[in-house]
Amino acid sequence: MGCPVTGTAVEGCPVSHQAAEFDPFGSDYQLDPAEALRWSRNQAPVFYSPKLDYWVISRYNDIKAVFRDNITFSPAIALEKITPVSQEAQDVLRGYDYAMNRTLVNEDEPQHTERRRVLMEHFTPENLEGHKPMVRRLTREALDRIIDQGDADLVNEMLWEIPLTVALHFLGVPEEDMDKLREYSIAHTVNTWGRPSKDEQIKVAHAVGNFWQYAGKVLEKMRASPDGPGWMRYAIRQQASYPEVVTDSYLHSMMMAIIVAAHETTAHASANMFRRLLEQRELWEEVCRKPRLIPNAVEECLRHTGSVVAWRRITTRPATIGDVQLPEGARLLMVTASGNHDERHFENPDELDLYRDNAVDHLTFGYGSHQCMGKNIARMEMRIFLEEFTRRLPHMELVPRQQFTYLPNTSFRGPDHLWVHWDPASNPERRSDQVREPRMDFDIGAPSVKDLARTVRLADKRVLAKDIVGLSLEDPHGRPLPNWTPGAHVELLLDEMGRHYSLCGDPEHPERLELAVLREPASRGGSIYVHERLQVGDEVGLRGPKNHFRLDERAEEYVLIAGGIGITPIIAMADRLKRLGKPYTLHYAGRSRRTMAFLDRLAAEHGDCLHLYPSDEGARLQIDAAIGEPTEGRQIYACGPDRLLEALELATDGWPAGMLHVEHFGAAGALLDPSKEEAFEVVLEDSGLTVQVAPDQTLLEALRAAGIDVASDCEEGLCGTCEVTVTSGEDIDHRDRVLSREERGEGNRMMACCSRARGKISLAL
Ligand code: FES
Repeated sequence: MGCPVTGTAVEGCPVSHQAAEFDPFGSDYQLDPAEALRWSRNQAPVFYSPKLDYWVISRYNDIKAVFRDNITFSPAIALEKITPVSQEAQDVLRGYDYAMNRTLVNEDEPQHTERRRVLMEHFTPENLEGHKPMVRRLTREALDRIIDQGDADLVNEMLWEIPLTVALHFLGVPEEDMDKLREYSIAHTVNTWGRPSKDEQIKVAHAVGNFWQYAGKVLEKMRASPDGPGWMRYAIRQQASYPEVVTDSYLHSMMMAIIVAAHETTAHASANMFRRLLEQRELWEEVCRKPRLIPNAVEECLRHTGSVVAWRRITTRPATIGDVQLPEGARLLMVTASGNHDERHFENPDELDLYRDNAVDHLTFGYGSHQCMGKNIARMEMRIFLEEFTRRLPHMELVPRQQFTYLPNTSFRGPDHLWVHWDPASNPERRSDQVREPRMDFDIGAPSVKDLARTVRLADKRVLAKDIVGLSLEDPHGRPLPNWTPGAHVELLLDEMGRHYSLCGDPEHPERLELAVLREPASRGGSIYVHERLQVGDEVGLRGPKNHFRLDERAEEYVLIAGGIGITPIIAMADRLKRLGKPYTLHYAGRSRRTMAFLDRLAAEHGDCLHLYPSDEGARLQIDAAIGEPTEGRQIYACGPDRLLEALELATDGWPAGMLHVEHFGAAGALLDPSKEEAFEVVLEDSGLTVQVAPDQTLLEALRAAGIDVASDCEEGLCGTCEVTVTSGEDIDHRDRVLSREERGEGNRMMACCSRARGKISLAL
């Protein structure tokens, strides 16, 4: 084989030693594909593997870019046999009239999007709701069978059976021949993504051929009663309306492929999840204590140890990924498991972090128009499994020293067996029957980061100024709290209410978080709760820290401006700038010295740079004088009441973009008034969908209803988490408090939780 990089010169071939050695059937990749490609993520994110004759892609952004462009990067080879099939095996398959053709995962445009649109309906959250009781019942029955045993192989006892039963029910296929179907599914995986020996190929070919015929027979039976339940009959009915879109060959291929896809990946993902959580006991116990964490725990396990570790594409024309040029016809192995551990996208990617707020960005379900249609069924099952087990068997443990084995293949990963044990005498339901009742139900769809609250304890509460109290928060078990940077805020969950407060302590002491809270009688009650009810020793939920008001430490000089309680993020910035030795001035305005917090600390630490404006002394902040001229290298950071920030916006009108950074105290006001809103249409370019946003709906809600995962946090236009990229459409009605005037003017992004559009827009989703 000549070098595919240079064309011919094998001696000068730039394929590195590691690239040459890469073997997706080797033990390193089989045990941990993300770890096996760490070197690639660091040094050669796109490399040619001579052993596989594929180009391997290992970084998050590169994989997403390939998923996004399914014209240049065709999915046509997604189901091709990765190991060439022997003539004998081909003959066996031919004997069964095996003719696996296009399915949803390996077909090109425009057919793919046409079919997806025609067949999508059953996957909406409303339809999936109807499957929940069955998943719950099956899980409870499986647990009832094993709960007094004291040990079980979860894979054999339930993790295959339940997803398979649910898949068959969803498809409308009779729930019989389950063992045979499991055997067929394994054969299909080995046949498509494995490296069977010549002898195995024959055996596998017989199983796959039988599977093909089985699928054909079930399909024929369904055709005789097309009005029955299930997605396959729905597809048969749709065939009558769209015969060119939903063809016979398509239905037969889909019947076989989807039986596998709909359960094998969920079975593996669930086994991976239980293994990972039980291996880190403190995480398991955290989930047992806080079932609200379950949706994100599932998502984080899908990211950390997902069941789908790679997908394939082929270039239809010369293309460039990163700085590597690929010829037409280049075969690509996108290792999504590696992308999920890319530190360029996920902080501390090797850590399983139940509180990770972008876990939903993982690539385990793929991305774009080929993203897994069944993702919300998988999530539903995994959440219910975890909810039932953490409630009824919280004392369950992994059987120590067991060897985990995997079916050797490039793309799907889950242990063949997962042995757990527990002491039945300690089963909680032996003491209380109530334990048998579910504690939580979960919405269909991506997890909400609103559930990601850790518990903190109020260690100290003191008066900082008139109507301002300072709070010190610590972990109840003495563990360090998360790192933060100046400008960051946290959300305190107070009596079911979430309230945002900027951090004002020392980021170098993560054992405590410091906040200052102003009593605001006109607010929704959060500050009153803090002032009047919150006591030292109380435990509260805390989300974050998050930083949407980040200090750019590369500037040459800074102007910091605070109005009232807006001093809280600003004092942390001033501390940081002093530590960095950067020049800054700090302007702090308030009604009177009695109402201004931190005056002593400011005088002691920042006296030379400090300018105070207590208005009862006649001191007035002169904005023009404070900010000076638009000098290159100067940055202005301001937090305070709206009138102060609006005056600053006005004063800096016409300045170069990016010099002013502001943080508002609250949302802009009513974000959605259905009586006044207009509907608008959104084209999702990556997914090939068009979504209507009704007057009583936010864009975020409409995207989620269409099955598109968009992370969100405040849902008030304050945090920037729900930002989406706008690719066309100019008339955007920005209602957030995140984007600056310049950023709005660029017209290429908007906040999905609050902003709207007039007319039609396109998004890169
Ligand atoms: Fe915070 Fe939209 S979720 S701005």
